[in-house]
Amino acid sequence: MISERLKEAINDQINFEYYSANIYLAMEAYFARENLNGFVNFFKVQIQEENLHASKFFDYLNQVGAGITIKGFPDPKNDYKSPLEVFEAGLKHEQIVTSKINNLMSIANEDRDYASITFLQWFVNEQVEEEDTFNNAIQALKRIGDNPAALYLYDQELAARTFVPPASSAASQN
Ligand code: FEO
Repeated sequence: MISERLKEAINDQINFEYYSANIYLAMEAYFARENLNGFVNFFKVQIQEENLHASKFFDYLNQVGAGITIKGFPDPKNDYKSPLEVFEAGLKHEQIVTSKINNLMSIANEDRDYASITFLQWFVNEQVEEEDTFNNAIQALKRIGDNPAALYLYDQELAARTFVPPASSAASQN
């Protein structure tokens, strides 16, 4: 049986995943102002990822019979100075998400809640990918530097990013 403490922490995580989507929407808006539509696409996909994460947590709490409370969140940062600054902020945010997922896993371990441990393992693996995605973009943008032609090519590369949902539905734990 899931503890009250873990229910509350997962409820907070649902809200934090939607907050993440909102932060990335502000990043998308920055790139829309800059007319970098490949980057816009990158963040559209990232927002779908965050909505999927929120949905998975939502469905899990629902499945274990916990009530879910939706909360608001602060305004996201909108005033970025460069693509690199955006991705560095994105990586920092993902590192916070990772620490929050690790905290959920610690609670589940303390509770010896094996069902929740199994459920949370997907997010532990997912965060490795999430941090890697932002790290790769940071490396690319550092190489690009102030070269507009290289930035144009990278924008085209990011236009090809697509959202790939997990093999089973978002409601599943796979
Ligand atoms: Fe939901 Fe990007 O972690």
